[in-house]
Amino acid sequence: MKDRVYNFYAGPGALPLPVLERVHSEFFNYNNTGMSVMELSHRTDEIQHIIDDSGARIKRMMNLSDEFEVIFLQGGGSLQFLMVPMNLSHPGDKIDYIDTGYWAEKAIKAAKSLGRDLEIIAASGDRNHTYVPNSDSIQTRSEAKYLHLCTNNTVVGTQFHNFPKVPIPIVADMSSDFLSKAIDPSPCACIYAHAQKNVGLSGVTAVVIRKSILENSPDDLPELLDYRTHIERKSNYHTPPCFSIYVMWQILRWIEEDIGGVEAMEKINWQKSSALYDFIDATPLFDCPVEVESRSRMNVVFRLPTKSLEEQFIQEAFESGLVGVAGHRTQGGCRVSLYNAVTLDAVKNLIEFMDKFAQKTNY
Ligand SMILES: Cc1ncc(COP(=O)(O)O)c(C=O)c1O
Repeated sequence: MKDRVYNFYAGPGALPLPVLERVHSEFFNYNNTGMSVMELSHRTDEIQHIIDDSGARIKRMMNLSDEFEVIFLQGGGSLQFLMVPMNLSHPGDKIDYIDTGYWAEKAIKAAKSLGRDLEIIAASGDRNHTYVPNSDSIQTRSEAKYLHLCTNNTVVGTQFHNFPKVPIPIVADMSSDFLSKAIDPSPCACIYAHAQKNVGLSGVTAVVIRKSILENSPDDLPELLDYRTHIERKSNYHTPPCFSIYVMWQILRWIEEDIGGVEAMEKINWQKSSALYDFIDATPLFDCPVEVESRSRMNVVFRLPTKSLEEQFIQEAFESGLVGVAGHRTQGGCRVSLYNAVTLDAVKNLIEFMDKFAQKTNY
């Protein structure tokens, strides 16, 4: 489609064009209801079908057995930082966390505020979060209720490529790599993902939860913050973000039916990120500070030799229709996000631009 830019924002970011087209074509009259999906009551069969089918698709694509439920909540990743410890532990309980930077630290701060015995059992701050701790060397405390980790670190561009092998249940913040690749969910008690990055529209948060873990949840949780409420009420306990869930559903259909599932998605994501990392590593003007084994397939961070060159690069990229390449405000530098909706063609165009920029600056 003409006049659309290449969008590399870290989220909200690019949406698949076929999804935008479907949403557009159904916008005024969803499924012959004579109404926009935005006008439908959340109590209609249409909305409940969208919710239920979204959950079923996530279960299929993530190989989730019936031990798991998928629910859709509001409040973003930030509310999950609180709901996870509230539902999966009691005051005073041991809970273990891995500190891999910005979002992991927000999760730690939130959980600590609830009076748990929280320990950071592995961290990457010693090398400025340019790596993730080796999964094989992670040791949890006995009796800890769970281990929390952020699988993809959106801000610093690192990613766990495997879950650690630990004897306690894992809770994974997969906000920025959810459904971007195939995973084995068996070590997990809970996986959550805010939107909008790979799936969804902001306003909806997907939570995958192992039902048996909730048998020990505290009895005095506020109803709204209790996972069991949302499981029982099929994510329709109170007014859900219907339109956000609908767009998420269209994205799930796109991944499953158009792309061919998460394995196929993963292949494309590796192709895109490998092309970019290979180019950066071969070009002296650009430097990726992240250790090779820990590099994120979703968020590629890199630096140029000076701040003024970085500013020029970001400005000229923008003028060339390549938007969202500035680093996180706490980090500076550059960051290119390659979520599911970002095409290989977008990455090729970016690399072409970077190549021309490098030649021009003659560095
Ligand atoms: C990995 C990760 N976790 C959590 C969050 C926070 O989500 P929210 O802004 O929806 O609270 C983000 C936001 O970008 C994120 O990247």
